[in-house]
Amino acid sequence: MSQVPDHLSAEAEQLRTELADHAYRYYVLDAPVISDAEYDRLYRRLEELEKQFPELLTADSITQKVGGQILSKFEPVTHSSRMYSLENALTEEEFIAFDERITKMLGQAGGMFGNDYFCEPKLDGLAVSITYVDGVFSQAATRGDGTVGENVTANVRTIASLPLRLRKPVSITVRGEIFIRTEDFAALNRSREEAGEELYANARNTAAGSIRQLDSSVTAGRPLSIFLYSLVEAQELGVTSQSGVIEFLRDCGLPVNPLGHVCSGRDEVLAFHRDLAVMRGGGSVNGVTLPYAIDGMVVKLNNITVWNSLGFTAKFPRYMLAYKWPEAEVATRLNDVSFQISRQGVYSPVAELEPVQLDGVTVARATLHNLDEIERLDIMLGDEVFIKRGGEVIPKIISRSRRERDGSERAIPLPSSCESCGSELELDNERSHNLRCPNRDCQGRLVERIAYFASRGVMDIEGFSRKTAAKLVQEGLVSDLPDLYAISAAQLSELEGFAEISAQNIHDAIQASKAQPLWRVISALEISQVGSQTAKLLARRLGSIEKLAAASTEDLEKISGIGKVMAEDIRAWFADERNMQLVAGLASAGLMMSEEADGEADSGPLLFDEKTVVLTGTISFASRDQLKDWLELNGAKAASSVSKKTHIVIAGPGAGSKLEKAQGFGLEIWDEEKLIEVMRTQPSRPAVKPDWWPA
Ligand code: IVH
Repeated sequence: MSQVPDHLSAEAEQLRTELADHAYRYYVLDAPVISDAEYDRLYRRLEELEKQFPELLTADSITQKVGGQILSKFEPVTHSSRMYSLENALTEEEFIAFDERITKMLGQAGGMFGNDYFCEPKLDGLAVSITYVDGVFSQAATRGDGTVGENVTANVRTIASLPLRLRKPVSITVRGEIFIRTEDFAALNRSREEAGEELYANARNTAAGSIRQLDSSVTAGRPLSIFLYSLVEAQELGVTSQSGVIEFLRDCGLPVNPLGHVCSGRDEVLAFHRDLAVMRGGGSVNGVTLPYAIDGMVVKLNNITVWNSLGFTAKFPRYMLAYKWPEAEVATRLNDVSFQISRQGVYSPVAELEPVQLDGVTVARATLHNLDEIERLDIMLGDEVFIKRGGEVIPKIISRSRRERDGSERAIPLPSSCESCGSELELDNERSHNLRCPNRDCQGRLVERIAYFASRGVMDIEGFSRKTAAKLVQEGLVSDLPDLYAISAAQLSELEGFAEISAQNIHDAIQASKAQPLWRVISALEISQVGSQTAKLLARRLGSIEKLAAASTEDLEKISGIGKVMAEDIRAWFADERNMQLVAGLASAGLMMSEEADGEADSGPLLFDEKTVVLTGTISFASRDQLKDWLELNGAKAASSVSKKTHIVIAGPGAGSKLEKAQGFGLEIWDEEKLIEVMRTQPSRPAVKPDWWPA
């Protein structure tokens, strides 16, 4: 093994400390002292050193936030102390009743100025409990039922603002809220829109969904934020107030909400609650606006030494309260209902409203989801309806107002034929009632399909828009996806609005997309449920469309990450003759139908056919992700924990308990030398070896 020169290990240590310090200044103090570019430079240097000398890598290095571990399920974690939820108050009276009850129970007049409360925004995200041992991040769990949660350590460690090492070497359990900032959520949806992917409905569910990903690199790609708000066993650490808890957490380097502060007595609590209401609606108070969604204010008795004497009701602590607001609803008129066709031919109803202000923005449209929703709401054109945001991006109609109809209202007209192809619409009642165009060759659907095909997340054809798609269909140049590749630059330049240069550019971009990797082609097939992540998995594991088409549901289900329903959907797709014609058309247009052209290793049996392999310790010539990709490409199921069912454990230097366990079970164990020998002597995929391949 290579010896790390002293000056380089000192440099790595220095970089780690410096980077952690800059992260603290940026995320906790909100006072960065270097530019993003400078930070990136330091980060890349550390990454480079760690790559060159893997023995320099420490678990708490800031570079270890990229994820990569794939689990098959989340293990249960029993919380060291129960995670309660909070009692709600919706009105001033309810808050006052809470304050009075505390004063009475404490047998005092609430002091001369009333009780002191620590108040902070109640974020709309998901609660987690995080444990640090000797200052090092060690475990994170969801709330679950309050007693037992799920182990989401691998995912929580990817959150950028959460330090992997505290500024104090303490062993503590802290709790907080994971959420997504409004701006980050909008950016995420913008990129999904460009990629032709379905938009996320709201930030809360997206944050929760991100933490429940089995592949932590997916989580690492989501813009999650966190604020910590409680410290388990604070009193044992000598902390006696909630404001002291927050100060302690901040001193540890943990991000806390900068708006939290002590309010002395009722009036200050009420005043802060009013300020938060203004900020929640998009307004600013003393120049501060809220960069995230909140659903209330948390009010905690600041003196934590009396918390125990106040105790708990059956469900809630008596010393805290979630002081919320009744949700904003406004009334407006339903002017019309329009329908949007999807690439599957489904007609989705959209309410066209008389524009109104809601939470500081003008709203003119609302989702109606499907025909059942129209029936449930019992609405007619001209009705007065109530809308609310309910955490969703696009508001929805919650009910019809009770104002009496005056006879001018009209039933919502449902289209009977497709506005694009004229086919008679059918009632689809698979999951809900929807109108759908049954014509697979419908031009309206085709336009949506072409736009999806060309979008950034699929074939990524530069400069190609939905308008381009509509024009090509309208002019009869494209009647199915493969036709795109037969269009000449000259044909394009004859189209209205396509000057010669842009015609040439679009033509070149279409042709260039033939070189796009296999997973993009798999995404382009529009197999139900198969998005880019699954397409990547299928491409990596099967290597060609031919093998994908030939795979049985059992073959597919063996791939971890592919469930029964998805496997059946994939089978059904390939069983359809027309879909096979599409595949043939795309193949003869010259698209990539396999990962590696004719590599000899591609045709033989897979090196690790269905074997469960666990990687532990460090391997000097490759990163964990590189090795994992290689193992999976060769048929292995990469697992993170050792069991009797594990086939092979590859253990590099630094391997600990997993190696011991493997020895205990008498499993096959490979050291680096053995791994190199196998890699050099056994045929494996890919045919063209990557640059990290051992020489
Ligand atoms: S303190 C006893 N502080 O609200 C629970 N909770 O309804 C102590 N929440 O499960 C929670 N922001 O997920 C607290 N600043 C904040 C919070 C907060 C959001 C969530 C948390 C909790 C739920 C209770």
